Amino acid sequence: MSYFKGKKVIVTGASSGIGEATAKEFLLHGAKVILVSRNEKKMIHSFNSFDSKSFSIYPFDLNNVENIDSFVKMLIDKEGPIDILFNNAGISQFGYFEDSDLLVLNKIMDLDFFSVVQFTKSILPHMISKKSGQIVTNTSVAGLIGSRNRSFYSSAKFALHGFFDSVRSEIIQHNVHVTLIAPGRVATDVGKNALTASGQPYGKDDRGHNKGLTSRQAARRILTAIKRKKREAVIAKWNDIAWLAVYIRKLAPRLYFFLARRIVA
Ligand SMILES: NC(=O)c1ccc[n+]([C@@H]2O[C@H](COP(=O)([O-])OP(=O)(O)OC[C@H]3O[C@@H](n4cnc5c(N)ncnc54)[C@H](OP(=O)(O)O)[C@@H]3O)[C@@H](O)[C@H]2O)c1
Repeated sequence: MSYFKGKKVIVTGASSGIGEATAKEFLLHGAKVILVSRNEKKMIHSFNSFDSKSFSIYPFDLNNVENIDSFVKMLIDKEGPIDILFNNAGISQFGYFEDSDLLVLNKIMDLDFFSVVQFTKSILPHMISKKSGQIVTNTSVAGLIGSRNRSFYSSAKFALHGFFDSVRSEIIQHNVHVTLIAPGRVATDVGKNALTASGQPYGKDDRGHNKGLTSRQAARRILTAIKRKKREAVIAKWNDIAWLAVYIRKLAPRLYFFLARRIVA
């Protein structure tokens, strides 16, 4: 029997990419999945081949951080005990810091960092009271290494690592686990949706994401990491420079920064 059978899982950013694929993988393993993103129509369409009793759809804009607490309370009231939260929704960036409007930083921090912190804060008392749970967050290799055009995105994703590495040590006593997923390139719309210096979506898919893992491959590795209660899992295709860069940054920082000046990722 699958480890996930009967477990109740919240997936944010379930309308596309990694979130959609991971939600489907959870469903295939017998979990009950609560799907969250802004685009209700897309979620209805994507999941129409699954048994409608096995998932629920909740359209919600996570940029409205101040509404997350009441949203999570409503989810728990309606859906009952939650076993796993997958904080997945996020937005990337493509632009040099010197050109970028700081409003873009606010937008990225709100979704990629503050919404995750608030969602976690709101669900934690529930998991602590039932003495079990797992909080899984999709960060990025950009949360482990800095690179050109990603100063705001990396700020948010690095912050997640600092935040969860601290919180993990506090909540393990309640049998609540923290898992951080740091993907390299995965073939999704993340590159197209990335915010440029002026805050417009980049709009093109020309930065190599389609050469990375498929979202299904990523989803399978994510489920394995969750099942093993990994603290941190870097997931990337074997030939993706991103995972190699994480180790070069640790072991040979001078080489890393030499390369980082030359590579556009
Ligand atoms: N793909 C990669 O190469 C890669 C690498 C490293 C990390 N990641 C991380 O993986 C996560 C998923 O990204 P993806 O690659 O699957 O990109 P994606 O296809 O663009 O998916 C992003 C998801 O986030 C949701 N979202 C965006 N803004 C939202 C908001 N304000 N409120 C609620 N949901 C929102 C989107 O749904 P709606 O538009 O319907 O709201 C969508 O479902 C992100 O955290 C990203 O940083 C991706």
